[in-house]
Amino acid sequence: MISTASAPAKIILLGEHAVVHGHPALAAPVSALRAAATVTPNAPGESGLRIVAGETVINLPADIQSQTVQDALALTARLVLEAADRSAPNWTITIESAIPIASGLGSGAAVSAAVGRAVALSVGRTIADSDLNALVYEVERLHHGTPSGIDNTVIVYERPVYFVRDQILETFSVGSPVMLLVADTGKRALTRDSVGDVRKLYDSQPELAQPAIRAIGEVVRQARAALIAGDLPRLGALADENHLLLQTLTVSSPELDTLVQAARAAGALGAKLSGGGRGGNMIAFVQPETAQPVEAALRQAGAVNVSQTIVS
Ligand code: PMV
Repeated sequence: MISTASAPAKIILLGEHAVVHGHPALAAPVSALRAAATVTPNAPGESGLRIVAGETVINLPADIQSQTVQDALALTARLVLEAADRSAPNWTITIESAIPIASGLGSGAAVSAAVGRAVALSVGRTIADSDLNALVYEVERLHHGTPSGIDNTVIVYERPVYFVRDQILETFSVGSPVMLLVADTGKRALTRDSVGDVRKLYDSQPELAQPAIRAIGEVVRQARAALIAGDLPRLGALADENHLLLQTLTVSSPELDTLVQAARAAGALGAKLSGGGRGGNMIAFVQPETAQPVEAALRQAGAVNVSQTIVS
């Protein structure tokens, strides 16, 4: 028996952080960048459920019910097995992921989704997207504390989403393909920390944080209309506005601001940080003729990686 499953990375187009506070956000999968999980029978002499992720090996004893599982991947496997009423089999789950961690691309949710699907396949079940989504959200809570649910939703359904917390999923169709460059500052930052800091700002300086968060919600509503209409210049301008509001919320960083400036100066339609911020990735909205000069400018300005993706 060998089962393999995978899940994509994601990018938040607009609306991060405000989405935690009940406002809408737009996000899309990055299908070319994926995490995969493969389940194989253990080698002779190795017992229990083993999870191998690069250098890390997690061993779960046969009776996983009695285990306090803190690790996200182990928790994913455990939840799927419990739902299937199975105890831990003699398996090794190997994780391979091309998604950089702690960089705003949803690596944690993608790995959990891949593990959930692979484990379900291995017990002869297919797991419904809605069930997997709920399960990955549970696991996301270990990483984030109070995640909005946008990461697991866009990754599990692998579709562009207009996401509002606790509301029925809405996807959208773009009027014209949106070309994006995703550039990595190389600096890792924990979303849990930036989300926590925005919450503190919300409580300590409500006159600053609350209007900024509301304004992000309005920017997102306008961006959805621009996406549907295929109005890319308007979308770019809204991305710039969104970045400014995220700066007000203190979640940008000098590295992110440098890349955003460089992209705009080289002809991007707009640019902003993407995800939790303070590090990780930014996105630049480009056109076919500006993609190359903007990419060169991003590298020149210190991006450790630049990749292109199209939302269509
Ligand atoms: O850093 P990421 O890719 O996990 O994105 C987090 C997005 C936030 O809005 C900051 C948090 C959330 O739970 O929605």
